[in-house]
Amino acid sequence: MADAQAIFDSYAHDPEVTRYLIWRPHNSVADTEEFLRGHLVRRQTGAEEFSWVLTLKDDGRLVGMIALHPGEYRVGLGYVLARAYWGRGLMPEAARALVELALAQADIFRVWAVCDTENLASARVMEKAGMTREGVLRRWSLHPNVSNEPRDCFCYAKVR
Ligand SMILES: CC(C)(COP(=O)(O)OP(=O)(O)OC[C@H]1O[C@@H](n2cnc3c(N)ncnc32)[C@H](O)[C@@H]1OP(=O)(O)O)[C@@H](O)C(=O)NCCC(=O)NCCS
Repeated sequence: MADAQAIFDSYAHDPEVTRYLIWRPHNSVADTEEFLRGHLVRRQTGAEEFSWVLTLKDDGRLVGMIALHPGEYRVGLGYVLARAYWGRGLMPEAARALVELALAQADIFRVWAVCDTENLASARVMEKAGMTREGVLRRWSLHPNVSNEPRDCFCYAKVR
């Protein structure tokens, strides 16, 4: 919860960052605290979600977040990065680490994620993290910053 202000300042308030996400940009740090309470509850009440903030190695600055969503034999992946740090290959580095960590677990055989078919930066992240595009899930996910109807999404996965 102590990271709420840094999360709000670095990316959660930014409509460019949240454009293809399932949540709207936060209007105040109170929105970010509410959002984090959800993450904490899901983490504490079992294995619904494991999320990490991402920090820079040199100065510890908070630049984003990445999360795993466990399911039966598989985990889903989600991520977000502050706009000032786009284009440096940071998220592929983080995503690849989690893909490999997940597939190293005895009972996990598949890591998967989706992105809006217009979110080509995210599709590139998944490719660079070693995942393969499996197809388009039509009308899969609501991205309220672009439409009030569910959007087509690319589905990517890595399996073992
Ligand atoms: C998707 C995202 C995590 C990419 O992370 P990243 O660390 O910038 O990834 P990369 O540096 O490998 O760049 C990936 C692609 O982004 C695009 N990109 C790079 N710099 C960019 C910039 N300044 N502005 C827009 N797009 C850019 C390029 O297409 C790049 O692909 P390329 O390397 O083949 O040219 C980041 O753009 C982001 O947080 N976006 C908003 C949140 C989001 O969409 N999350 C995923 C939801 S499914």
